Amino acid sequence: MLNVQQLNQYYGSSHTLRGVSLSVEKGQCVTLLGRNGVGKTTLLKCLMGILPVAAGQVSLEGRDINRLRPHERAKLGIAYVPQGREIFARLTVEENLLMGLATKSGKNASTIKGEVYELFPVLKEMLNRRGGDLSGGQQQQLAIARALLAEPRLIILDEPTEGIQPSIIKDIERVIRLLRERGDMGILLCEQYFDFAHALADKFIVLSRGEVVASGNQTQMNNDDVKRHLAV
Ligand SMILES: Nc1ncnc2c1ncn2[C@@H]1O[C@H](COP(=O)(O)OP(=O)(O)OP(=O)(O)O)[C@@H](O)[C@H]1O
Ligand SMILES: [Mg+2]
Repeated sequence: MLNVQQLNQYYGSSHTLRGVSLSVEKGQCVTLLGRNGVGKTTLLKCLMGILPVAAGQVSLEGRDINRLRPHERAKLGIAYVPQGREIFARLTVEENLLMGLATKSGKNASTIKGEVYELFPVLKEMLNRRGGDLSGGQQQQLAIARALLAEPRLIILDEPTEGIQPSIIKDIERVIRLLRERGDMGILLCEQYFDFAHALADKFIVLSRGEVVASGNQTQMNNDDVKRHLAV
């Protein structure tokens, strides 16, 4: 469903993405691995249209989306959970969730489906609490819930386990596994936490200095060649 071909991006004169190609199918979780600063977030921002690309193709279900603005991509069904979560600290949990309905219209724009509370029960208990008063892990769950309310065809998650306590990482893993098993969306998961990525991936790609240096299916992930690119 998502197809990326030969993507190149520059920050000024620095060549940050070098011919990156990848694809994500419906029902599949693809993990994007790589050390700090290799270009993972840059790639995800290019896919979301937040950053322009110098060359390359991005298509969603066969449609070229390379020139579309972020909100247009969101409307076509791409949801993005940014690194650092970017929830609205001064808004309540409920108001943050409503932001996830921005692509909807009419009654659908104001109805939070109960399913998100089944996935993340903690949010239901905290609807009136300010986003900024949640723990980091709760904020991450809120950011994922907000993205899911858009009912995306493709969800892009940027390091959802970063700085999160282990019990909440387990909760997030359970939710991503459920989404994957449901089979109605593609999942692109950027991670540095190998075990988490390994537990969820159907396929993986490894970036190093803006280039894809390894890729394969989940069974090929657990080898030294891959881990060499992740170790600090
Ligand atoms: N706005 C920017 N202007 C110039 N250079 C940038 C900008 N944003 C990121 N970079 C540089 O581009 C490179 C890739 O950064 P990016 O944030 O994509 O890495 P990352 O793989 O997501 O890292 P991390 O794992 O730490 O989140 C880094 O060298 C970074 O310093
Ligand atoms: Mg990053």
